[in-house]
Order: sequence, then structure tokens, then C-alpha cells
Amino acid sequence: MASKHQAPRGTFDVLPERARARARVEDAAAAIFARAGYEPIATPAFEDTELFERGVGRSTDIVRKEMFTFEDKGGRSITLRPEGTAPICRAYLEHGMHKLAQPVKLSYAGPFFRHERPQAGRYRQFHQVGAECIGTDSPLADAEAIMLLADLLAELGVPGVELRLGSLGSPDSRRAYLEELKAHLHAHEGELSEDVRERIDANPLRAFDSDDEGTRGAMASAPTIVDALEGEDAEHFAEVRALLDSAGVAYEIDPTLVRGLDYYTRTIFSFVCEGLGAQSEVGGGGRYDGLIEQLGGPATPAVGWAAGIERILLALDEEAEAPGRDAFVAVADDGQRTRAMALVGELRHAGLSAEVDLGGRGMKGQLKHADRIGARQVVILEADGTTRLRDMESGEQREVDTAKLTDELTGGKK
Ligand code: HAM
Repeated sequence: MASKHQAPRGTFDVLPERARARARVEDAAAAIFARAGYEPIATPAFEDTELFERGVGRSTDIVRKEMFTFEDKGGRSITLRPEGTAPICRAYLEHGMHKLAQPVKLSYAGPFFRHERPQAGRYRQFHQVGAECIGTDSPLADAEAIMLLADLLAELGVPGVELRLGSLGSPDSRRAYLEELKAHLHAHEGELSEDVRERIDANPLRAFDSDDEGTRGAMASAPTIVDALEGEDAEHFAEVRALLDSAGVAYEIDPTLVRGLDYYTRTIFSFVCEGLGAQSEVGGGGRYDGLIEQLGGPATPAVGWAAGIERILLALDEEAEAPGRDAFVAVADDGQRTRAMALVGELRHAGLSAEVDLGGRGMKGQLKHADRIGARQVVILEADGTTRLRDMESGEQREVDTAKLTDELTGGKK
């Protein structure tokens, strides 16, 4: 019976088959974070709008077009978080984490919201796992961050992953480079898409990201920031590359790499999976040395990344198999239902996955149900108080001592 209600455009329900696959991604990330000392943190699903305006940048697509912003009942402007880095920096400052031993390494998983045009791999509510390493400008932290994401994608078996690496330099060198780039764009104004032309002065780097043919043509001869890197910026980038080389992490330098958030400085990176089509980035991030200061804190360098869970799942194209159950407790007689309920509780306490019929089915119906949920063994409680155990694979049935049932089911392991 279809209801007239549907999940809002660009959102989706996570049904159990998918939920298991998602949990596998989150669990793998949590294990990798724990082994590397990235402590979990959770921030609210909404923040003051100004946090993102200041943090992500007023000229970005995210802030200009994609935020779910509304006024709360007190007239404050609230925004559903489009990303996690600015909120984590807000929390870092709010809770005085700059007074802790640095760097502070944090990890997170949760929903994010962007009012984008929905398509495969692009949703209005999506989920990220991510890591932030706050309080060091060492290239070691950049390399560690990149290696964590590389490990996660490798461990999950995401096929055809490529790592693109770039550097945006520091604000000073970037400023000089941006002037050069703007001059190039102005000289090619006639070839640019309207969107890019309108933002030459506000956000010239986005021109590298354009799908428009004319713009792409004009960008082929544009100066790149990687070529313009100098001094400490160039050194920092060389060290990150050397660390990745010695760790055996393959990457491709992409001098035109840009990201849709304004806070990046120096290293930026993007893991793409070619099989995914237009929305090919499974995860990415970079260094954001100026963000915390921009949010009113002390100058604090940091680096991090986020990966899209839905994109990883699309790339894996899999649904986790149903886990089955260790046991199903069936009753041959309605008088045994109370005993069945107590028994299923005991089995669960012993660490087994076990279910009992909640639907008032007869014996045949219960066996059918046990089969449907993938029960490996069925415990049958007879009217006379005896207990039988049925192996669902072989169909064999034998009488067992109820007192020893847990041992029988765990194979004596408990
Ligand atoms: P981002 O590149 O905007 O970076 O998003 C990270 C990942 O989230 C993307 O690579 C993509 O897999 C996924 N993603 C983004 N938008 C959508 C969408 N509409 N639907 C589905 N998946 C999406 C950030 O958010 C930064 N906070 C990453 C970072 C952390 N940088 C430094 N630290």
C-alpha cells in the first residue's frame, strides 16, 4: 500500500540491507581512526549560519546556493550543517582544546545537508566520515591524513581509486597567484561561461572546476598554482610528496585541483573513483591553516578530510549480506510461549543472536519464518517440556537437555 508521503527530494530511506553496508563503512573507519588515535567527536546537525559564512566562505557555491538556512523561533539564522570542518573548529575553540597537547586528532561520522540538484551520488542529505588533525603544520600530518583515507578505501575494497594531489600555497603566495589567474581570465572573458565570468574576482579558482567547454578551453593555458609555489610552500609540498612516496601511496599531481570550500591552504587532495561518473570524488580534504583564526581563535594550522559514505557504497556496489541468526526458538504448543520468551532472553545474554515468534504462528509457519530470517538452528519446545534442536541446513533433529542448550548452540565456546 503506497502512501502519498515520500522522503523529500534528494533524500532517501536507509533500509536494513543498505544499513548493514553503511555500518561496515562506519565500523571500518572507526577502527582505522582508533588505531591512529583520532578520537570521536560529534557536533550538532545545525549551527549558526554565520559559522559557515565565515568558515566555508561567502563566495562558495555551498554558502551562496546550497545551504538549508532558516530562522528559528527566536529569529536567529540557523543552517543545517553542509560540512563538518567549520563546526569542529568551532567546538575546538569553544571547549578550549587549543590548551590540550597538540595536535588534537578528531574523527566523526554523520549526516550533512546541501541543497544541490540531486543525481546519482549527490543528495541533499548525505553522510560523511571524516578526520581532522588540528594544531600542527607538519607535512607529517598531511601525509598521515592522506594515508588514513587511502587505508580506509583500500580496506573496504573500493575499486579503481586514484589520488589527486595539489597545493594552494599560503595566503600570500596565493594572493599573488590569484592576481595572475584573474588577469588570464579577464583576457579570456569572451570564452567563459556566465557563471565563471561573474565570479572572476570573487572566486577565480572555480574556473578550473567548470564543465563548460569554452571555459575549459580557456583554462588549458591558465597559470597553475602548483607551478607558482615558492619558498616554504614549495618545501612543504615537496615533503608531503616525499612522505607519500616513501609510504608507497600512489598519487598524481593535479595542478588544477580546486575544492569547493574557501578555507584550504597548501595541501589539497581528492580520491576519485572513475567508475562513479560525474560525482566521482569518494573523499577529499586538505590543510586549512587559517580557518581557526578566521573563526576568532589563535593562529592554528590543521589538516583533514571527509569521505562520502553513499559514494563509497555506490563504488562498492554492494549490499551487505543479511547476517542470519544463531537460533530461532519455536513452540510446538502455545503453552510454551512464556518459556520460549525466557529462553530467547537467556540465549541473547549468552551473546547469541536469537529470535522467537511474535506473530502467533503455528509450527509450520514458525519453521518457515526461521528459514526466512536465516536461523542456523531452531530450538523446538514441545508440549511435554522436552526440547529438540533442529539444524536448518541438514534438517536433522535431536532431543537436547535444556540446561545445556546454550553450550550446544555456542559449540561449548561460552
Ligand atoms: P567536500 O569535498 O565538500 O569536503 O565533501 C567531502 C565528501 O563528501 C566528498 O568527497 C563526497 O564524497 C561527499 N559529498 C559531498 N557532497 C555530497 C552530496 N551532496 N551527496 C553525497 N556526497 C557528498 C568537505 O566537506 C570538507 N569538510 C572535508 C574536509 C575535512 N576538509 C578538511 N577537513
